[in-house]
Amino acid sequence: MKKMNLFILCILIPFALMAQDAKMDAFIIDLMSKMTLQEKIGQLNLPTFGDFQTGAVTSSNVSEKIRKGAVGGLFGSSSYDDIRAAQELAVTQSRLKIPLLFGLDVIHGLKTTFPIPLALACSWDMPLIEKTARVAAKEASAVGVNWTFSPMVDIARDPRWGRIAEGSGEDPFLGGLVAEAMVKGYQGSDLSQNNTILSCVKHFALYGAAEAGRDYNTVDMSKVKMYEYYLPPYKAAIKAGAATVMSSFNEVDGVPATGNKWLMTDLLRKDWGFNGFVVTDYTAINEMTQHGSGNLQQVSAQALKAGIDQDMVGEGFLTTLEKSLKEGKVSLSDIELACRRILESKYKLGLFEDPYRYNVKKRADTEILTVENRLAAREAATKSFVLLKNEKQLLPLKKSGSVALVGPLADNLKDPMGTWFVAGDWNKSVTVLKGFENVLGSAVKVNYALGANITEDPMLLAQLDLNHTYKKRDRADLIKEAVDAAMKSDVVVAVLGESEAMSGEAASRTDIGIPENQMELLKALVKTGKPVVLVLMNGRPLTLLWENENVPAILEAWAPGIEAGNAVADVLFGDVNPSGKLTTTFPRNVGQIPLYYNHKNTGRPYDGNLKEKYKSKYLDVVNEPLFAFGYGLSYTTFDYSDVTVSSKNLQGTATLIASVTVKNTGKYAGEEVVQLYLSDPVASVTRSVKDLKGYKKISLKPGESQVVTFTITPETLKFYHSDLSYDWEGGEFIFHIGTSSDKVKSVSVNWEK
Ligand code: NOJ
Repeated sequence: MKKMNLFILCILIPFALMAQDAKMDAFIIDLMSKMTLQEKIGQLNLPTFGDFQTGAVTSSNVSEKIRKGAVGGLFGSSSYDDIRAAQELAVTQSRLKIPLLFGLDVIHGLKTTFPIPLALACSWDMPLIEKTARVAAKEASAVGVNWTFSPMVDIARDPRWGRIAEGSGEDPFLGGLVAEAMVKGYQGSDLSQNNTILSCVKHFALYGAAEAGRDYNTVDMSKVKMYEYYLPPYKAAIKAGAATVMSSFNEVDGVPATGNKWLMTDLLRKDWGFNGFVVTDYTAINEMTQHGSGNLQQVSAQALKAGIDQDMVGEGFLTTLEKSLKEGKVSLSDIELACRRILESKYKLGLFEDPYRYNVKKRADTEILTVENRLAAREAATKSFVLLKNEKQLLPLKKSGSVALVGPLADNLKDPMGTWFVAGDWNKSVTVLKGFENVLGSAVKVNYALGANITEDPMLLAQLDLNHTYKKRDRADLIKEAVDAAMKSDVVVAVLGESEAMSGEAASRTDIGIPENQMELLKALVKTGKPVVLVLMNGRPLTLLWENENVPAILEAWAPGIEAGNAVADVLFGDVNPSGKLTTTFPRNVGQIPLYYNHKNTGRPYDGNLKEKYKSKYLDVVNEPLFAFGYGLSYTTFDYSDVTVSSKNLQGTATLIASVTVKNTGKYAGEEVVQLYLSDPVASVTRSVKDLKGYKKISLKPGESQVVTFTITPETLKFYHSDLSYDWEGGEFIFHIGTSSDKVKSVSVNWEK
């Protein structure tokens, strides 16, 4: 009976979908038949509400343009009232009453600010990540936002690049899973529901490879590297159904991405089957002029013909396409195709049925920043923390005695929210000081001192807004107060790192250490002889050589979001056992960058013998990172057995089972991310030393063990060849299973085609 129902559904669903598509087609054909050329071009225009800016240009006369039908959507507001007013203007005063899209950078939550995306990825917990996006979509849709400019899935191998904070790190396999989870979380299974919104995969493509980690810088890479390492997360997002894509600022293969037909049409639409619309990044069409692609009319025509549908802020489309059409530089069908794709998205959201579907006062008043959502943010934060060091089991701390809590991020409401908290209200965040009080009550005496400002570097001070935290005080006095607090306490917790504006867009750094004045504080604290726990808040990997050598315990808390303080207290005092694993490599110094685990071998690999001169190494630092991809400790310990495989000799489309037994050998229950890597030692295209191919997150009580198995098929063995064909080659394969990319047990098998 059940089987029969399933059979009927399988027949009926495709028909129902076809009927829906036909209905949409008929609606849009009819609507477009009434639209003037100017109104069609108007749909291609995406200004901001007027004051929201992530570039030099601001949008002007927006209301007037809405009335004239010269606006397809607006972005940059989370105000219920502003969104309602703008939609009212569009559907009552424009000739054809076409509703607007409302976009916003809901990057890690709307009002319930979750940890930054890089932190979330360190949870390796896809259901959790999906849930954060779901909560974000529910809150955003309640105020009227129906389109988020997220997920950012740019692979980044350079921590100087501030935007590394917004992505999921350096691995394409993991990046693809995160992309999928976020798209599903935002869009749900039905876009016309009033709590699901359009996602926008960005920045297409390769933005994370900006040379020297300097934002907006140029990119140049081989196609093999692109396909193998940089494109997979975008592709995964498209496969998961991402409704829109944002072009990147950089060039791809010598042509700006925003005007790159190969990228936007051949790859994205023809190869990957994308059928949503593509929006530019902020004034990216105009910026093609600076890249050297011609004047505004030329670059606008190039972008449209390349496959761009909507122009963010720059108004190149709005001001030049009519002329280009007259001159035969673009065709009417180019314009109509873009217009149609945007109208289709509006249709799928249900905006033509009800333009206020996403703007519901009752929901805006009751569904935002709820207790439940805050709890989700707290849980997500604790799961994203990575324990980098824990000498002599200093952590977890006892809930008794006294603690000195010091540092510029210890009693700071704003910076722990992280980059791009956009609509979040930092006055509603929980500081670490407050979190200690919430979790400890009066059980522990907390001696607080600021100890240092975030930075005293004049160049940083000139560019960062630190008014919410900066104290004009003598550096030595601040340190003395902190040392006094330390002397009165059993243990010191120093919360140090970066302000929220030190990572994210236009926030690249060449020195990625803790700022020098904070280091001075840390050194003074260590000198007291008291045990010091360093809690880091930052948006990128930092260089932590001195810290790792001299501080007994280090917890990487990233920018934890609105529940920062509660989450830090939960973990430091043992209510939650940390389980995060790095998804980005921590170098020893900036000179090692770019440094990533899935690098190629050289012909002269260095094997640790300093006496051998002609090897691929540095004179002054080892090749290894300080903390490798996949690394992260727990309050407990896990023991890994050797790897066993179902067969050492395989043929063709066989399936291999690889397994290990993992045992919790410590005193605490804990979670472990068991990681599977692959090496392909001989191939017609050189392969990286290892690539992540799978993982399992398990939970074990003290003394408990579990057999963890991975099912491997030839699909796992495939790679891109020079002609971009994707296949595997028979021979030896080495499977590594372990707790991090640099701590694995390995087994070699022979697998012939
Ligand atoms: C520029 C950023 O690169 C992009 O990620 C963002 O979505 C837009 N500005 C809009 O704010």
